[in-house]
Amino acid sequence: MPNGMPAPSLPAHVAIIMDGNGRWAQQRRRPRMIGHRAGARAVNRTIDFCLERGIAALTLFAFSSENWGRPQEEVDALMKLFLGALDREVDELDRRGVRVRFIGERSRFSSGIAQRMDRAEQRTAGNGAMALSIAASYGGRQDIAHAARLLAEQVAAGTLLPEQIDEHLLGRHVALTDLPPPDLFIRTGGDTRISNFLLWQLAYTELWFTEVLWPDVDADLLQRALDDYAQRERRYGLTSAQVAAAATETVSP
Ligand code: IPE
Ligand code: IPE
Ligand code: MG
Repeated sequence: MPNGMPAPSLPAHVAIIMDGNGRWAQQRRRPRMIGHRAGARAVNRTIDFCLERGIAALTLFAFSSENWGRPQEEVDALMKLFLGALDREVDELDRRGVRVRFIGERSRFSSGIAQRMDRAEQRTAGNGAMALSIAASYGGRQDIAHAARLLAEQVAAGTLLPEQIDEHLLGRHVALTDLPPPDLFIRTGGDTRISNFLLWQLAYTELWFTEVLWPDVDADLLQRALDDYAQRERRYGLTSAQVAAAATETVSP
């Protein structure tokens, strides 16, 4: 969507930091892993919701580049959970027309997980009902650094001049460049920070935070986020009057 255009009331792309699994389990005096399992069920509810609403793209933060630093026991258990989910869910996602992809440093995962990620992507590549992107071993800074390296390689090879590098070109080398940038960002769990999620892609995204812990997420909560989004005026640096004028232009014959 060009800058200054009014937001359509439904976001085309929703990006979510699914936070609060550990605290959800702690509140129940259960191991953190119980929270991650309940979180996986909330992922399914969220995918269902977005498919039903006709949201074209959903990006979920499943595991950050910093999450590798958690206690080994938790990392191992999360890897097992990913493996199981990849084995269980991909058929159903494919059947429902979901195109799955993973962004982040795939080489840090075991070959079993990395191969399943490759296979899930290949298998669902032709689907068009919704683009589901899972950020796993993902960091926004790493994403931008990687894009810079790709451009530097082209300069070193003599196929690109430094003065040709601008935000549009760099923006074509970060993750998810084939999708519109997220319209709506949701973070559950009560913390109001980005935690190294899509730093580049979130430049003009509408941010929505909730105290609700990720395993408690349901359609009502997601609908509240959509309703809030629909009320917002996205100005992209322009004035409210300019945005209103652009809206009138687009509706007039
Ligand atoms: C988010 O929940 C899931 C991952 C980061 C893998 P947390 O595990 O961060 O839950 P809290 O924030 O400790 O409650
Ligand atoms: C962000 O949550 C990463 C994911 C949800 C995958 P964290 O729990 O890792 O973030 P911080 O540590 O609270 O910033
Ligand atoms: Mg957390």
